[in-house]
Amino acid sequence: MERKYEIETLPYRITAAADPRPHAREAFTTEFGGEAYADVAELCERSPVDVVYIATPPELHRAHAEIAARCGKHMVVEKPLALTLEDCEAMIECADRHGVRMLAGHTHSFDAPIRKMREVVRSGEIGDLVMVNTWNYNEFNHRSRLPKELETTRGPILNQGPHQVDVVRQIGGGLVASVRARVIEDSLSGCPGGYSCMLLFESGVPATLIYDGRSLFDTAELFWWVSEGGLDRDPDLNWKRRRAYQEKASLGRDGQAEALDRAKEEGRYGAQGETAAGETTPPPYQPFFGLTVVSCDQGTMRQSRNGVTVYGDGGPREIPLGQELRGRAAELAELYQGIVEDRPVFHDGRWAMATLEVCLAIVESSESGEEIALSRQVAVNDGPAA
Ligand SMILES: NC(=O)c1ccc[n+]([C@@H]2O[C@H](COP(=O)([O-])OP(=O)(O)OC[C@H]3O[C@@H](n4cnc5c(N)ncnc54)[C@H](O)[C@@H]3O)[C@@H](O)[C@H]2O)c1
Repeated sequence: MERKYEIETLPYRITAAADPRPHAREAFTTEFGGEAYADVAELCERSPVDVVYIATPPELHRAHAEIAARCGKHMVVEKPLALTLEDCEAMIECADRHGVRMLAGHTHSFDAPIRKMREVVRSGEIGDLVMVNTWNYNEFNHRSRLPKELETTRGPILNQGPHQVDVVRQIGGGLVASVRARVIEDSLSGCPGGYSCMLLFESGVPATLIYDGRSLFDTAELFWWVSEGGLDRDPDLNWKRRRAYQEKASLGRDGQAEALDRAKEEGRYGAQGETAAGETTPPPYQPFFGLTVVSCDQGTMRQSRNGVTVYGDGGPREIPLGQELRGRAAELAELYQGIVEDRPVFHDGRWAMATLEVCLAIVESSESGEEIALSRQVAVNDGPAA
């Protein structure tokens, strides 16, 4: 986990893509000069690529992962790994059967401050872990997307939940015993707007996960207005998104779908500003996916703008962190190392399935009013000792 990579020496090239939209294929060949296919199977069968990055809508992940595996391609699959545990199991089994590696793609557990907090917990320097608490309030529910996309992921639960659950599972070691949660509704979108979740690790350590994507309070207000990507976040973003959503809502469900379908067909391409190799110009701050506070029996710590602040007997102490490779670029480097060194990858399919199990338990617990016991948890892969 502590391995450092130089962006210039990243050992991969992007040479092919598949997308049913002609506009996206043209934009890809203009930017990367590679081959562009209308169909995933055609890409996997005809192109000699070694690794496929699956960033299609989550309900297609299983089909696309199975095609990639059958064609002998290693893969990164965006979060959530799939929408059901059965699909996750099928994907893992298929990847294993074809001898390819599947890395669960991008979640904020890869952020340097989160990995550092895991390292401090493991080192025991401020004692044993006693609890983890994480809060994220933002405008997720009113970002530009089709109403059915929000419904498919139950608002933020299956879309943003994997980030938050990965962060907490990683710090706590991975093995969650049970989940109790309540989902809150977003009256504007008619979808879940967030959740309040308490989980217990097998070790007995508790964690709370709070998510509210209704564009009201913004956690960044308590964190120097740092954004999810480590940039300056617009203090008015929540209100702007909420107002824009209210205007769009007046179009009705069909009108919204038509307007967004057109926008996607005509214009949307890539991650708008972020290159596949990651942020080549490092953002000024560390990424901030909400405030995570980690308590041990001799100290407490949280992320800071440029690292981690530890509160121990001697008062607050800052651990500065460099702008090392992060996010998707770090994950691609991780997958590359896993393949060439023939070692397990950090956050594989089983890890992602365990994370989805927690997210689905949030829904189930809220519906049933019960505490949900989990059965598919796996321990974090801490990698070689630093
Ligand atoms: N990790 C993160 O921070 C992050 C951020 C955004 C999205 N995501 C994930 O990425 C995935 C896609 O989300 P999005 O918001 O980019 O969705 P999107 O709808 O904007 O993009 C999906 C892309 O898949 C393409 N596509 C659709 N059907 C296809 C098919 N049959 N074959 C090939 N391509 C097809 C679409 O044309 C589009 O280019 C989701 O799993 C989402 O959770 C992750």
